[in-house]
Order: sequence, then structure tokens, then C-alpha cells
Amino acid sequence: MQNHPVRFVHLSDTHIGPTRDFEVFGRNPYAACEKVLEGISRLNFTPDFFIHTGDITASMDDASYKLARSLFSRFPAPVYYVAGNHDSVSLIRKYLDFGSVSDPFSDYDLLSYVFEVHGHRFVVLDAHLADPDETRGTVSQLQLDYLRKQFVETPLPVALFIHFPPHPLDSCWIDNQMLMTNGIALHELLKEFAPRVRGVFYGHVHRGIHTSVDGLLYSSVPSVVCQFTTLPDEEEPRADADYPPSFSLVTIDGARTTIKSHVVAMNP
Ligand SMILES: [Fe+2]
Repeated sequence: MQNHPVRFVHLSDTHIGPTRDFEVFGRNPYAACEKVLEGISRLNFTPDFFIHTGDITASMDDASYKLARSLFSRFPAPVYYVAGNHDSVSLIRKYLDFGSVSDPFSDYDLLSYVFEVHGHRFVVLDAHLADPDETRGTVSQLQLDYLRKQFVETPLPVALFIHFPPHPLDSCWIDNQMLMTNGIALHELLKEFAPRVRGVFYGHVHRGIHTSVDGLLYSSVPSVVCQFTTLPDEEEPRADADYPPSFSLVTIDGARTTIKSHVVAMNP
């Protein structure tokens, strides 16, 4: 099955609120999600799965996750979720349906698991901390050990999903405020198995940024709601009104990973 390509939709940072008219960053997340759903329906093909790399809601309450469920249950394939700093793992588990996963940690508040599609292994790590204002994440040593196990115990290619960027992105505010605290440890582990790593996919930065580090591919997807500028010397983020909602269509075919950005126009 490993020769069969895998195609998935990567979206992130939907920041859905408790009501349909809730606004954040001057935008309406519910309306933006509706537009993305329309854009996905126009693709005229069904991906193998959808991955949401976190910050599903803005305010971590029951009503927001119910609204998220009403949107994402309309996706035509299994959906998988990553915990962001604005997420509650217990509410994700309570309200959102997942595709089939292997969840090794038996910790209800940790959203770290593995799933397989067409002979590829996908690892979801949970680096979020309890405080939603903590914009830097840390992945536990237990999870890093579990990631290593995926490479040691099987010969399968692996892709990784996490909310936070592991390394600097030539953006002053991101590099000062948004990076994982132990991204170097994650990268050093992945380097050991680089020929089998198909990519690390993340969100959090509200911008599509793609980097190659020591031959490893890292890719963020823009937010569904609002993008930020990421010029090198900016010390604080600014909303970029010219950058509409978007999602990525990712294909993993053998050793090749292809990322296509799909922009969703907000005007009718
Ligand atoms: Fe975030």
C-alpha cells in the first residue's frame, strides 16, 4: 500500500467562537469556515483525510466546540485534530469526531496519537500548555520517545503534525514569541530518520511558511480567519487584510511531498 499516494487537506487556526456572528481579529470565523468548506467542495475530489493543526476555537467553551462540530462534520473524509494554545483537549474529545487512531498515552488531557493511511504513518504531537496565553509550546520527552518508536518499530514513512513551529522563521515576533521551547530536540530526532520523514506540518503563525532545514520539510498553513505579516524586523504581528482564508492540499507520493495552496475569496 505504500506506493499509493496520500492526499490530505491541511487547515488551521479557525478560532471559532460561541456564536455564528462572533468576530475575532475583525473577521467572522464561522463565515470564513463556511467559505473554506465551499472551496473544498469545489475541488471535485475527496482527500484521504483532513488535518486541523490547532486553535480550533477562540474561547475554549462548549458552545464554540459545538459550532466547530457543526462545520467540520461536513468534511467528506475523516478529520484529525491537533491541540493549539487556544484549545481544550477535553472539549475536543467531547465534541469532535476523529478518524481511527492509536492513542498510546491513556491521558485524557493529552492529544497525542498516531494513525496510518495507505502505508504512511502520521504522528500528532501535543505541545500546548495549560495557559492559552502561553504562545510557546513544549513537547514532552515521553512524546519524543514515542515518536522515535514510530521510526524504530516500523519501516513506514512518517509525517508529523504539531501546532507550534519548531525553529526560527526569520520573523522577529514569531521567533521571540511563538516557537516551541524544545524544537531543536524534535528536529535532531527527525534528522536521524530524515529519509523517511515526509514533512512536519503546523499552524499557529497565521501564515503559509515553508522551510527546508537539514533536508527536512516544514510547512505551515495560513489561518482560516486572519493572516499576520511576518517581515524580518517586525517586533509585533500586524493583520494582513490582503491575505484571504486558505488551506493546503498536500500529496505524499513515494519520497515526494507536494503542497498546493488554495486561497478562498471572501467576497461573493
Ligand atoms: Fe496558536
